[in-house]
Amino acid sequence: MSGQRFEPAQGPLSGRIETAADKSISHRAAIFAALATGTSTIDNYLLGEDTLSTLRVLAQLGVPVQREGSRVVIEGLGLRGPIESDAILDVGNSGTLLRLVSGWLAGQDGGSWVLDGDQSIRSRPMARVSDPLEEMGASFELQAGGTPPLTVRGASLEAISYESPVASAQVKSAVLIAGLLASGPVSVSERPASRDHTERMLAEQGAALTVTNDGDRRTVTVQPSDGLRAVDRLIPGDPSSAAFPLVAALLVPGSEVTVDNINLNPARTGLFRILERMGAQITGLNSDSGEGDSLAAEVPGAITVKASALRGVEVEASEIPAAVDEITLVALAACFATGQTIVRGAGELRVKETDRIAGVVELLSALGGAIEATDDGFVVDGSGGLRGGTVDSHGDHRLAMLAAVAGVASETGVTVTNFEAADVSYPDFASDLASLA
Ligand code: S3P
Repeated sequence: MSGQRFEPAQGPLSGRIETAADKSISHRAAIFAALATGTSTIDNYLLGEDTLSTLRVLAQLGVPVQREGSRVVIEGLGLRGPIESDAILDVGNSGTLLRLVSGWLAGQDGGSWVLDGDQSIRSRPMARVSDPLEEMGASFELQAGGTPPLTVRGASLEAISYESPVASAQVKSAVLIAGLLASGPVSVSERPASRDHTERMLAEQGAALTVTNDGDRRTVTVQPSDGLRAVDRLIPGDPSSAAFPLVAALLVPGSEVTVDNINLNPARTGLFRILERMGAQITGLNSDSGEGDSLAAEVPGAITVKASALRGVEVEASEIPAAVDEITLVALAACFATGQTIVRGAGELRVKETDRIAGVVELLSALGGAIEATDDGFVVDGSGGLRGGTVDSHGDHRLAMLAAVAGVASETGVTVTNFEAADVSYPDFASDLASLA
């Protein structure tokens, strides 16, 4: 099978770029605009497959959505619609869309929808979302394995206090959105805390939210809402996308690369803190003025990474949520380090777009890395580099980009089959990476 080829860099990578718009914030900006009363304009909306799926699903629900390039204008339907019922909604590859929209639909008394998506979506666990929403009064029909395709039936929702068994922003968000429509306050607790975009963005739109912290357990409470404000938004760059060219710079000797306009929310920049512990020279991480106030607006800034000598580290469960989508890049960096790297408490990786523990182990082993899977993570013995070879993305956007970065930093280059999966979150990735050579 043919694939996309990523040759070893012929010299240092250098330059200053902006990478793709934030996927988590783009999904929320569109969905929360649909929930609002009035017109919202979103600029720099991510034109990835996942976030285009969100616009399509909203349009199917009867939300007036207009897009011109990366500007999206949405006329909100208000929290209770009128929302078109009885549709079969195709979420494509997007777990975030699947879970967040379920929270909204669960509160539409008398409505019923089928949610389905691609082959990967059909393996994503959904009981983690349907359990709390059913406790609030909605009903769901899932497949035997607790997966889509599923039916959601909306109801008039009751208040709950929910202790989430997983640290998941998607679960938390679904319950908080449903909470806006409930008859009393709804709270969600999780340990450790997941990304907080939903809290920050709903607060900006006038939702009454409070956050309390008890050690590493964080509880968010939302009051029923009688309407959300429409707001205009400019989407910042996605740290999860910026991570790929920045790790390429870290691994190719002599490189120095800056990515501008990255969302520096500390709930998203955990990868960079782990890489610093490995010895990476990184500047720009401390400029987030929203730090310490999880209901403040998010502040973007620039991150610069210089190629650095790396050593192995141990990564614990408490560090995973802030790096959950990038933790496979720790495995890649660890192949180039000296000493052993151990990642623990990352079992959630097994239920992402693919089983990313199995995926990264297969991929890096094929390129000459010494990596072994554990139940909830992996162990890498650093050997200072990777040989090269041919690998498959298995349709997972983040594994496709990881393989490309591995190729640029490898001895003989990497051919990536099914590389086009990268379009899910970062359609310009290959050209951005090439522009740094
Ligand atoms: C996301 C949350 C994360 C992340 C996903 C996007 C979000 O999942 O892996 O890519 O936008 O809420 P969980 O926090 O649900 O594990």
